[in-house]
Formats: sequence, structure tokens, C-alpha cells
Amino acid sequence: MTHIETPDTIISANYAAMSKKAAHEIAALLHSKPDAVIGLATGSTPIGMYAELVRMHEEEGLDFSQATFFNLDEYVGIPHDHPQSYHHFMHEHLFSNVNANPERIHIPNGNAVDLEAECARYEQGIKDAGGIDLQVLGIGANGHIGFCEPGTDFTLGTHITQLTEQTRNDNARFFDDDHEQVPTEALSMGPATIMSAKRIIVLANNTAKTNKTHAVHDALYGDVTQDIPATILQKHPDVSFYLDWSIQREVQKMIASQSERSFSRD
Ligand code: PGA
Repeated sequence: MTHIETPDTIISANYAAMSKKAAHEIAALLHSKPDAVIGLATGSTPIGMYAELVRMHEEEGLDFSQATFFNLDEYVGIPHDHPQSYHHFMHEHLFSNVNANPERIHIPNGNAVDLEAECARYEQGIKDAGGIDLQVLGIGANGHIGFCEPGTDFTLGTHITQLTEQTRNDNARFFDDDHEQVPTEALSMGPATIMSAKRIIVLANNTAKTNKTHAVHDALYGDVTQDIPATILQKHPDVSFYLDWSIQREVQKMIASQSERSFSRD
């Protein structure tokens, strides 16, 4: 039988507390399984979590040296040292500041000559590492996870994807607010790759620039549909959403107004 369940939610008072809680889950995994395989995400949301992990490394000796890391995605066609490449992001926010072993850091190569072959190589690399123990995800306002945009086939592994206009607009804030500078393609783990992780955590809060209330609501309570990729997470047996109180309140308001509407129709 297919497992469908509302994912667990872990609510924090604010972004800083949410970031710390998520970092502490990763730290707990590194303590219990130093050679864990960890899937990581980019974007503005996990920055606070990475800062807390760096603090734990510096002040408490949290050890990253035996763990293996696989990032979710990377843009196609921008150099690794481009300030907005995900290679650059990960080194800036985490890898350069902790003792991760460079040989155990994996990020899709969006500059590979043969992008299809790169996707197959990446997917195989995850399998060869024994699979992902813990996958960290952000969520886009359109419900994307990684760069799996609405409509992505749930059976896909790592693949080449076209970015939607909404995602390019959302990400323009990282490219001098210039939509034209945002790449049009990316390599991304697919829904099947993400779902094969043993445990998944999703971090989400609303910011001035992106409102994710709908996406989080649907991921938790909506019908499972390829149109909203995050809804597939309801079929995963071990997933938690780390939310701040503000987004949680917005989601609850949405549920209340829906039930009011259905009550007034009855
Ligand atoms: P954000 O991106 O953390 O920058 O909001 C999340 C995502 O698009 O997956």
C-alpha cells in the first residue's frame, strides 16, 4: 500500500531558532554516524543552519571529515567560481569553514560537456555511497524541491531541467535583481532521488520576497500531484518540516478559511 501521511512539523519561534534546530539534527546524525551521507540544499533558507553548523564546528569540534555530501542541484552554464553558482555558495557558507573532506563533497557539474552523462554519473555516485541518510530541502513558492519544477515526472532521478519563469523571478534577487541574468537550465536530483533518502527535512519560512504559505500548505495537506512537486513528500515515511511560527500561522489561517468556506456552503 502506498504510504500517504501528513508530514511531521517542527515549529520554532523564528528563523534563527528554526535554523538552530535543523542544524542540531544534522549534528546529531554526525555524532551517531560520522560517515553519514548527507544531501544538502542551497538558497537563502538554509544559510542560518549552515552558520550554526560552522559555529558548532569551531566552538564544539563538530567533525565533518568522514561524512559524504551530495548537493541537490546546480545551474547549467555558469562557472563554479561565479558568485551565484551553488559550488560557490556551498564553499562560502559551509565547506570552506568546516573540515569536510573535498573528496567527499559532490555537487552536480553544470558545465559538463555531456550533461546527460553527468546526471547519470551523479545518480550512480549517490547509490555507490550507499544512498542518502538525511536530505535537507528548501521549497520554492511554486512547490518545487531542488530544481524539480511543477510537472516534473515523479519517477525521474538526477536530470536536466528548465527553470520556470516564477523560479527565475524568485532567484533574480541573487542576480542583481535582473531576471535575464538567471540561467534557464539546471541539473537537479529528481523526485525519485530525493524520495530514496532515508530521512528528509524541509526548511521553510516566508520572507519579504517569497511567500511560501501555499506551497507549504499544499506540501503538507494538498493532494499529491506532479504539479506541486513537494506534495510527493507525503509518501515518504520519515519527513519533517522545520517551520517558523510565522509561516505556520499563515498555513493555519489558510486551513481555517477553507473550512469556513466549506462550512458556509453546507
Ligand atoms: P529559498 O529557496 O531558500 O531561497 O527561498 C528555496 C527553494 O527555491 O528551494
